[in-house]
Formats: sequence, C-alpha cells, structure tokens
Amino acid sequence: MDHNMDVLLKNNNKKASPPPVTITRVAPLRKLYGLTLIASFVVIVATCVYTSGRFSGTMTPSEMQLPDHLPASHPEVLQALRSTFLLPPSKLPYNLSKDPDYLATSHADTWGIIHYHLSRLFSGERGGFFVEAGALDGQQLSNSLWLEQELGWTGLLVEPDPYSFLHLGHKHRKAWTSNACLSSDAFTRRSVHVALKPRPGYRNNYPWFMRGSSHELGVKLATKSAEEVETLQYYLNRGEESYMVTYCFPLHSYLLALNITKVDLLSLDTQGSEIEIIKSIPWEEVEVRVVVMEVADRTHYQSDLVEYMRGKGYFLVGRFMDYIFVREGDSAHTRLLSHKDWQLVVHV
Ligand SMILES: *[C@@H]1O[C@H](CO)[C@@H](O)[C@H](O)[C@H]1NC(C)=O
Ligand SMILES: *[C@@H]1O[C@H](CO)[C@@H](O)[C@H](O)[C@H]1NC(C)=O
Repeated sequence: MDHNMDVLLKNNNKKASPPPVTITRVAPLRKLYGLTLIASFVVIVATCVYTSGRFSGTMTPSEMQLPDHLPASHPEVLQALRSTFLLPPSKLPYNLSKDPDYLATSHADTWGIIHYHLSRLFSGERGGFFVEAGALDGQQLSNSLWLEQELGWTGLLVEPDPYSFLHLGHKHRKAWTSNACLSSDAFTRRSVHVALKPRPGYRNNYPWFMRGSSHELGVKLATKSAEEVETLQYYLNRGEESYMVTYCFPLHSYLLALNITKVDLLSLDTQGSEIEIIKSIPWEEVEVRVVVMEVADRTHYQSDLVEYMRGKGYFLVGRFMDYIFVREGDSAHTRLLSHKDWQLVVHV
C-alpha cells in the first residue's frame, strides 16, 4: 500500500468535520442569481416542449390548445390544421365493409337521389376535388366515395365524431380526413359535440343512422316539423349521448391549408349549421362548382337560401331533404341542361 493511498484512506475514515466556511455578504445574492438562472432555464425548456408539442404533429386534436376566434387565414390556424387536424389520403387498398346488412342500408335515405344528381352533373369528369362535411364512417351514405372510386377524385372528409372518425380511418379513403367540425362563421371556435350511439339491439344493422344525428350543442333542431322533432326525440331518447369539446375550423382555412382554390363538390350534412357554413364562404376567393346541402327545415321552401345562392350565381337544380345548387355557366350546368328531361327535381 503506497503512501498516497494510505493518506486517502485515513482521510476517508476521518469523521467528516465541516469544512471551514467563510460567510460573506455576497452569498445570498449569488444564491438568488443561481435560482433565477435555474428558473429561467426551466421556463425556456418548458416553452420549447410546449411549442414543439403544439406544432410537431405528435399531438392529437383533443390535446390541442388553440385560441378561439382566430380568423380563417391566421398562420397558427393553418399550422394547426397541417400538423394536427389533417391526415393525408391513404395509400393502402380500400378496406370497405362487405357485410350484407351494412350494405343493405348503405344507400338508403336520400343517398339515391343525391347520387342521381351527382352522376348527371359529373359523369365522366375525372380528378375533381370534393369536401364532404358529416362524413360519418366514409362508406355508409357517403356522397363522395363513388366519385373517388369511379372518377378518381380526391378531397377532404370532415367528421367531428371520434367513433365515426375511427371507422373512417379504417376505410383507407383516398382523401384528406379531419376529426373536427366546420365552423359556422369565418373564425375558429370550440364547440360541444353531442355524439349519439344506438343502444345495443337497436337498429344494429344501421349504426350510422343514429351517429348521423350527432350534432353540435346549440344547433337549432327545433326548426324541423313537430313530427320530425318527435321522431328525432324518439331516437335521441333511445341513444346514449356523450359530449365532447371539438374544434371547428372555417372551410376557407382547410382550403388554404391544402392549397385548394377550386372545390368541384361541396357536400354539407352537419345537422343544422349548413346555411351558416355556406354564408361563411368568401366566394370571391374560392371557386365552388356544385353544392349539396341538407336543410334542417324540410317543410318550408328555403327562399332566403335560394335567393342568397342566386346572388352568388347558383341555380337550384334539386330540392328534397337536401338542396342542390350548380354554378351558372359551369360545365356541370351545361351538361345538366343538355338532358332533354332536365327539370328542377323536387321531392317533398
Ligand atoms: C379493416 O376494417 C375493419 C373493420 O372496420 C378493421 O377492424 C380493420 O382493422 C381494418 N383493417 C385495416 C388494415 O385497416
Ligand atoms: C401547400 O403549399 C405550401 C407552400 O407552398 C407547402 O409547404 C405545403 O406542403 C402545401 N400543402 C399541400 C397539402 O399541398
């Protein structure tokens, strides 16, 4: 054992006596500097983590913290859409349901009438861009699936209901998808989404009918006829309701985020906010060729809506549960007029 090691051991064995401390008057101040330095560091790190999380795309829409009432083209809105709220078109093969019960109801309700119109308006037109809000699972009652499959279109599917959105993701649609809602004005906002789920054993083969009655809290469903309200109430009472906060973005924000200036088909089924969404569109900046929109009040002719659309240069070509408008002079309009049997299709 050499001398040095010996000294070392001796020192280690020594009972630790406090080292001599020189207390000066500067010490508390130094301590304060140190604390400030550490605090600043913590704040900087926390800010970086927060900001990168906010924009890194690792967040889910429900974790997002976005201020309300930002204008449609605000950079933070476009960033949030691109990083968190927009999922790109799938490159995988379609994974559509082949269940006979499901398929039997897949083209029910107004699907047939809408399909009739769309096939006449767009027959043979390839490569268009659609926006469908109220996309449900992307297959049952979808107004845009055949455009994608038959005519090679792509587009944007907006669906606020998380359960529906999960199923939409399984279908591998060749379109952008977004788990959010369309804002009823030109600003972002948060809204409460009421999700309806049928009780087990109740219309099991038609789950999306009930899901399709999911809506935003505050949307006025009372404009429907008393009979319809009663029917709706009947379904609502038999469904399980759950509530969640959802982000709503102006349609214009989506189009800016995706660099889209021309929408060939805009399909709105948002349980009561359709007219407000339509009125939020900056028509001089966005080209929309055809609009299919459900209207909450089916008993009265929507003269205000038709007037408004006329003022923007659109003709009403179909009216039932949904209203169908085509821009005057559009190739789809010309094609429609070339049909000898052309007339305003009204189903009441
Ligand atoms: C296909 O769809 C089914 C039913 O929605 C789902 O369970 C399954 O995970 C999907 N498959 C793929 C590869 O996405
Ligand atoms: C839109 O354009 C911007 C800027 O040119 C680009 O960074 C972005 O990738 C584009 N987004 C899409 C979805 O095409």
